[in-house]
Amino acid sequence: MGAPSAPPCTLHITWKDLLLTASLLIFWNPPTTAQVMIEAQPNKVSEGKDVLLLVHNLPQNLAAYIWYKGQIMDLHHYITAYVIDTDTIIFGPAYSGRETVYSNASLLIQNVTQKDTGSYTIQIIKRGDRTEAVTGRFTLYLETPKPFISSSNLHPRENVETVILSCDPDTQDVSYLWWINGQSLPISRKLQLSKTNRTLVIFGVTKDTAGPYECEMKNPVSSSRSDPVTLNLLHGPDFPRIFPSFTYYHSGENLYLSCFADSNPPAEYTWTINGKFLQSGQVLSIPQITTTHSGSYGCCVRNSVTGRERSTFKTIKVSAPSGKGHIPGLNPI
Ligand SMILES: *[C@@H]1O[C@H](CO)[C@@H](O)[C@H](O)[C@H]1NC(C)=O
Ligand SMILES: *[C@@H]1O[C@H](CO)[C@@H](O)[C@H](O)[C@H]1NC(C)=O
Ligand SMILES: *[C@@H]1O[C@H](CO)[C@@H](O)[C@H](O)[C@H]1NC(C)=O
Repeated sequence: MGAPSAPPCTLHITWKDLLLTASLLIFWNPPTTAQVMIEAQPNKVSEGKDVLLLVHNLPQNLAAYIWYKGQIMDLHHYITAYVIDTDTIIFGPAYSGRETVYSNASLLIQNVTQKDTGSYTIQIIKRGDRTEAVTGRFTLYLETPKPFISSSNLHPRENVETVILSCDPDTQDVSYLWWINGQSLPISRKLQLSKTNRTLVIFGVTKDTAGPYECEMKNPVSSSRSDPVTLNLLHGPDFPRIFPSFTYYHSGENLYLSCFADSNPPAEYTWTINGKFLQSGQVLSIPQITTTHSGSYGCCVRNSVTGRERSTFKTIKVSAPSGKGHIPGLNPI
C-alpha cells in the first residue's frame, strides 16, 4: 500500500531526511562560532581622517592575524598580516600604505578615502596540531558628506520641459532620499527616480513640482541633507486683468488703467484702443478724457520666453460734460 509519491504539501520526514538535515547543519555551522567583534573608533569617520578597527574577544593561543579587504579571503584581497611568534608584519597586494596592524589584531587605517569603505575580514589563525581559523567581519562606512542638488535646467518652461535633478557627490554605500516641500515624494507619473534613487526626473514641470527639493544621503552611521533647491519655473502669462473695474467715466476725468498678468519672466504689456496700438507699459494714463476716448481698451500681455500671448478687453464709456455746455434737448426740464 501507500502512494508512490506523497502530495507535495504533506509533511513527510523520515529519519534519513532528519539525519541528512542535521549533518548539513553541522557542516554549515562555522567550526568555531565567531565571537570576535570588530568596532570602528571613532564610529563616524570622515574622509581624510583615521579610523581604528578594534578587535574584541580574541580567542586564546594565537599564531597570526590576516586582514582582508572585502569578504573573500584570497591573496588578491590580502592587506596585511601579523605573525605573533616572530612579531613580524607582512604586507599583501591590497595594502595601500595607510594600514597598520597591531599586536592585539586591531587595524589602523590612516587618511581614509571613499575606496576604503566596505567590508573587512580578519582571519585569526590559532595555534595547534591542525590549523584552525576564526574570522571576523566589519563594514566600514564614512560619515556622509553634505549633499547638494545639481539640476540639468534651473529655469524650465512650464509643462514642456523635463528636468533631471541629481544628488551629488556620487557616494558609495549610501542610500538617497528626496523631499519636495518638506515631504517625501508623492507617487506620480511626473516624478521618476533612478534605480539608485540618486537622480530624479521631473517630466513637464508645473507649479506643483517646481520644489523646493532637498535630497538626503544616508548610511548606517550617518545621514545629511542638502540645501533646498527650487526650480525657477518659466510660465504664463495668465489671462490679464484690468483695474479698476469701472466702465463709466465723465468728461474731464483722468483715465487711469493698470493691467496685470501672472508671468515669469514678467510679461510685456501693450494697450490698444478699438484694436489699434495705443502704448506699451503696464499702466495707461490719459488726463482729462472726453467722449472721444470712449471705446474698447485692450491689454495684451506677452512672455517672450514662453512665447505665450493673452489679451483682455474693457469697454469704457465717457459721458458728455454736464452743467455748462449741456446738450439742448437732452436735458429734462
Ligand atoms: C590595540 O592596540 C591599539 C594600538 O596600540 C590600541 O589603540 C587599542 O586600544 C588596543 N586595544 C584593542 C582592544 O584593540
Ligand atoms: C590624504 O590623502 C590625500 C589624497 O588621497 C592626500 O592628498 C593627502 O596629502 C593625504 N594626507 C595625509 C595627512 O596623508
Ligand atoms: C528608492 O526609494 C524607494 C522609496 O522612495 C525605496 O523603496 C527603495 O528601496 C529605494 N531604492 C534604493 C536602491 O535605495
